[in-house]
Amino acid sequence: MVEASSFKGRDVVSMLDFNREEIDFILDKASEMKPLAERGSDLLKGRILATLFFEPSTRTRLSFEAAMHRLGGEVIGFAQPGVSSIAKGESFEDTIRTVENYADVIVVRHPEEDSAVRAARVAEIPVINAGSGPWEHPTQALLDLHTIREAKGRIDGLNIALVGDLLYGRTVHSLAFALANYDVKLYLVSPPQLKMRRDVLEKVEGRLNYVETGDLKSILPELDVLYVTRVQKERFPRPEDYEAVKDAYRIDREMLRDAREDLIVMHPLPRVTEIATDVDETPHAWYFRQVRHGLYVRMALLALVLGAL
Ligand code: NCD
Repeated sequence: MVEASSFKGRDVVSMLDFNREEIDFILDKASEMKPLAERGSDLLKGRILATLFFEPSTRTRLSFEAAMHRLGGEVIGFAQPGVSSIAKGESFEDTIRTVENYADVIVVRHPEEDSAVRAARVAEIPVINAGSGPWEHPTQALLDLHTIREAKGRIDGLNIALVGDLLYGRTVHSLAFALANYDVKLYLVSPPQLKMRRDVLEKVEGRLNYVETGDLKSILPELDVLYVTRVQKERFPRPEDYEAVKDAYRIDREMLRDAREDLIVMHPLPRVTEIATDVDETPHAWYFRQVRHGLYVRMALLALVLGAL
């Protein structure tokens, strides 16, 4: 049986490090955070979170900071590496070794795929991965699952499509790892150039029931969840390759006429053109509600790894 104490001091580096019981436990704890998010709490009073963001962020950084504040804790950190001693040539490892003297938990986003693993290796305090280059974004996967559970009441038995940039999109990598613990049918929908990374599929082989396709229209009527992603412009080695695929999928209200009435449309955000704004006012749109779940999940994670639950 999973207990809250088993999360104390733990790093959150990869969704592959968590089994189904642990994921369900975190999601349950996230639900318990809802009233605390409204009322506020002293659960993490006297604790300090350091947020180290070497890449742009709106939701991930602000929701971690809000989560810490809602639980009565304090936050230090930077949102641009240019203002830290990285700009003087300090190594990533030395930065982590320094910051752990000031904080009780570190949240880090960095362009390199092994950044979170490296941070966790040198830090004695818990490290939470807020995006490791194009590889993983585990806390996003947890908030995605929490949103699905809230909307559908369950995860098992659902038909879920991940659409867009499955090559460079880190959220869909972590989400695929997480969904391998559940009984779902997963459609991986992308242009050929942006197919799901082979090393992601290798890690879930035999555990995940998936189909790869480029044709969203034909599977749309079967879906319970449509998870749309942004084409990750900043990851493309050549701008012309981005131009060739940037408009591969565009979801609009007209297209959703073929969908189930209770289809939910999700997106980790930011969106660019892949979901038309005319979808926003339909009952399908869950992407802004999804944001709120990030707060609950991050409150739960901070409280768990700090041993406060
Ligand atoms: C995503 C990210 O940074 O990977 N954003 C987020 O954290 N919600 C998705 C994206 O940038 O497209």
